[in-house]
Amino acid sequence: MKAKIAILPGDGVGPEIVAEAVKVLDAVARRFGHDFEMTEHPVGGAAYDLCGDCLPDTTLAACQAADAVLLGAVGGPKWDALPPEKRPERRALLGLRAKLGLFANLRPAKVWDALTGASPLKDGIVARGIDLLIVRELTGGAYFGEKRRAADGKSAYDMMPYSEREILRVARVAFEAARARGEGHAAARPPKVTSVDKANVLETSRLWRETVTALHASEYADVELEHMYVDNAAMQLVRDPSRFDVILTENMFGDILSDEGSQITGSIGMLPSASLGDARGGLYEPIHGSAPDIAGKGIANPLATILSAALMLRHSFGLSAEADTIERAVADVLAAGIRTQDIVQGNDHAVVSTSEMGDAVSGAAETFAARPAPHSALSNLAVGLDFGEARTELRPGCK
Ligand code: IPM
Ligand code: MG
Repeated sequence: MKAKIAILPGDGVGPEIVAEAVKVLDAVARRFGHDFEMTEHPVGGAAYDLCGDCLPDTTLAACQAADAVLLGAVGGPKWDALPPEKRPERRALLGLRAKLGLFANLRPAKVWDALTGASPLKDGIVARGIDLLIVRELTGGAYFGEKRRAADGKSAYDMMPYSEREILRVARVAFEAARARGEGHAAARPPKVTSVDKANVLETSRLWRETVTALHASEYADVELEHMYVDNAAMQLVRDPSRFDVILTENMFGDILSDEGSQITGSIGMLPSASLGDARGGLYEPIHGSAPDIAGKGIANPLATILSAALMLRHSFGLSAEADTIERAVADVLAAGIRTQDIVQGNDHAVVSTSEMGDAVSGAAETFAARPAPHSALSNLAVGLDFGEARTELRPGCK
């Protein structure tokens, strides 16, 4: 298969972790005979320094023309003083999400067998299992609603609008994902969607709840549906995460709950994400930020980005065996005791650098005997498969 991948390293640890994911994609391409044309483009503060814009037109055009986008992270103290709409987070990240129409953000959170000890939760809670998927609405709500600061600077608002159409399309993704996970788990449990809102206070949440309930009744009665207030969901996530399968929620609640979801699995450095829309393509990034405090030290954990590359192969390219291979390689490397410093427990582990972790995973992905990964449950969520001709090209810069 030939596929064009836009590579957006960004800021902070972004370039270091993305380089390792590229290494792993190259290993998979060699092993399975694929031709991934990967071109690098500036984004975030790095793009601001280079081009005066955190999302240069050339970068956006490259993402629109690509079959998928792999992003590191954006932002850092150097660009904090920029006007809000020019900052890396708003201009680059939210800009890409909106302009690429990526309304559904999939954030799988699970405890890897080798890392159960890294969870801050009590052993008895972790032993019940943590394997959930947060489906976060990504292009609506308070992030994109009208914002205003009064002329005297002393009052402000952020509107939180939602339409039925916006709720329906992301709810569908959650129900489909639950069905797919149900098949992957071989009937170990019936698929379940927990729709999280604040319907006791917010009008958008009341619309959310009505819309999800109606869609469930008309198209997804085979999936169990429960509604939960967001404050309760935050509590249940630490009290008994095993009760969750798929969590469906709006943009800001999803932002907050997914950080909590990552922490209970051990490290935010382990969680990948896929942002999908109706169109071909998708954007894949770790859920963590640019971590400027550890940038350039070679200690960042590249696994969230490597696992994001696996999600790309599965969801954008329909390459399930290849995605399974990456996930299995990660599991094997962890089982062998290889750790970046954020996931070390005790002293019986080999603590490795960012690039050594990338070498270990790409080596394992290229050489071990193929067998299915433990979690390949989302395979039937693959999106469009219409690929153009591939070339290899490096195109950093603004023009
Ligand atoms: C995330 C991040 C972003 C968000 C920030 C950097 C704007 O926290 O992807 O979760 O809030 O969506
Ligand atoms: Mg966040």
